[in-house]
Amino acid sequence: MRAVDVIAKKRDGLPLTKAEIDWFIAAYTRGDLPDYQASAFLMAVFLRGMTREETVNLTLAMAHSGDILDLSDIIPYAVDKHSSGGVGDKTTLVVLPLVAACGVRVAKMSGRGLGFSGGTLDKMEAIAGYNVNLTETEFRAAVGRTGLVLAGQTRELAPADGKFYALRDVTATVPCLPLIASSIMSKKIAAGANGIVLDVKAGRGAFMNTVESARELAQIMVDIGVDAGRDMTAVISDMNQPLGVAVGNALEVVEAIETLRGGGPADFREHCLHVAVHMLRLAGQGAKWTDTDEARKLLEHYLNNGAALSKFKEMVAGQGGDVAMVDNPALLPQAALVEEVSVVQSGHIAQVAADQIGIAASELGAGREKKGDLIDLAVGLKVYVKVGDRVTAGAPLATIYANDAAKLASCRERLTGAITYSPTPVEPLPLFYDTLYGN
Ligand code: URA
Repeated sequence: MRAVDVIAKKRDGLPLTKAEIDWFIAAYTRGDLPDYQASAFLMAVFLRGMTREETVNLTLAMAHSGDILDLSDIIPYAVDKHSSGGVGDKTTLVVLPLVAACGVRVAKMSGRGLGFSGGTLDKMEAIAGYNVNLTETEFRAAVGRTGLVLAGQTRELAPADGKFYALRDVTATVPCLPLIASSIMSKKIAAGANGIVLDVKAGRGAFMNTVESARELAQIMVDIGVDAGRDMTAVISDMNQPLGVAVGNALEVVEAIETLRGGGPADFREHCLHVAVHMLRLAGQGAKWTDTDEARKLLEHYLNNGAALSKFKEMVAGQGGDVAMVDNPALLPQAALVEEVSVVQSGHIAQVAADQIGIAASELGAGREKKGDLIDLAVGLKVYVKVGDRVTAGAPLATIYANDAAKLASCRERLTGAITYSPTPVEPLPLFYDTLYGN
């Protein structure tokens, strides 16, 4: 087989066979195909799409591009969660230790920032020393030790996704249903979780802009998971405005720590509790945590009494991170330039465009322009308003954290354009739109 023929077939809109997909993924994973051919393949898929059968075959080829982790000897029933990517989405940092505080073992492989959406690994690396590059043996040992591990894809697990993910980020091929579904589900299948909660974002700050397209993505991922013998739940959540207040790596870590201390922005705390309730429900396997209200009370208790924060610290320490930074977030990377921005007109907030806020943070240096770019962990924004808020001119709108005056100025401009006002009341946005189950 020749890569150029597979690319040409997809370029011309024809469905690829399982053999062609398997061959392409295996050859690229081995390093036999250059990045430029993989990029052309990704763009062809982006423009031409894939059938359901091709998407399933691509997912399985990527899942089997490395080892499939079997955690059953250390975790009888492992739960995991994954977000399809959004702006200000630091949910994993709170939900993992929170669920682990309830005695549920959680082993998660996360990714780096993609497009304008942030990445959990980049955020965790704001904590000095935190090691996201675990080998399979270290990954297993960490779960055995603390019941909680949060790391990057090991080179052994779904390596095809690891390679594709970095290419997609810089070739404008991120917002594509078959590529997102195969990326997320190949990792989840390879990482060995039995129960998986997917947080599928919908809106202008998500890769799926409408609730309908997010539901389509959620359904195919749920189906792929069920076919692979996993219990699946997918929540469809809003991503028209940023989640919480902070956008940017270290800033988001601080907000996650505040939430683990029982505080944090109301929308973010609520979002975390909702996702965690679903993780507990799966972990309970019909025998425990079937009552949503009781599960929620337990989770609130562990947020308020510091148990979730302790688990987070255990995880940080276990992976080599500096726990002093968790105790004192002022030790996390700090930006040199801090500028307050005010509300420009009295009225009601009609829009806080999450995509523009995500791009603004990325342009400050929080995201990558090219594969392998270094990011600035300290920069980002805090945006204090939500759609539907009644505001008065001169009240605090946002704070910009920058390390470069020119970038700060263009961030201010983009931020100003991202916020729109209405003289009449505006309905607040819902946090969630729907839930899909498959088990
Ligand atoms: N998260 C992933 O792991 N992959 C995607 O493509 C998007 C979000």
